[in-house]
Amino acid sequence: MSILSIYVFGAEVLRQKAKPAKSVDNSTITLVYDMFDTMRNANGIGLAANQVGVLQRIITIDISETDEGKGTKPLVLINPEVIKEDGEWVMEEGCLSVPDIREEVTRAASIRLRFRDINFHEHEIDAHGLLARVILHEIDHLDGILFTDHLNAAKRRHMKGKFIRIKKGETETSYPVAAGIKL
Ligand code: NI
Repeated sequence: MSILSIYVFGAEVLRQKAKPAKSVDNSTITLVYDMFDTMRNANGIGLAANQVGVLQRIITIDISETDEGKGTKPLVLINPEVIKEDGEWVMEEGCLSVPDIREEVTRAASIRLRFRDINFHEHEIDAHGLLARVILHEIDHLDGILFTDHLNAAKRRHMKGKFIRIKKGETETSYPVAAGIKL
């Protein structure tokens, strides 16, 4: 198991669409372990494979250290697909790939999700609140979307300086990152 570098804003891989996994093999299992290590080392509650440079539709989630998610089991979502959305609510989000920025984002309040587990067995679950929020944020990553894309143009313009600092690798993080652009 190892801690991988997390790609940050400006990296091409964060803007690409990840491909569905066709099966689970040893390399998938290693990747999932590494994603959990990488996510926990960075105090994150969700991570998409794109963020560690892998274009496969794989997500790890662990909200067990949060107030709302206390006692919940970590989740591996392979090929996740939202099949129903209900309601909407606003919550402040952050992202390991967009360090130093937290902004409010509107998303569905509850979802029905279809996914495959680490044994490639298919499941359907309902998720609400924080769990639904994290799942939607991470599925966005698989589609090349960052949470800041949901903000209005004025807000994004206002944050331009911060985006440039992240791209240049000038933002300090407590975890290893892969700089967004080659300088
Ligand atoms: Ni994120």
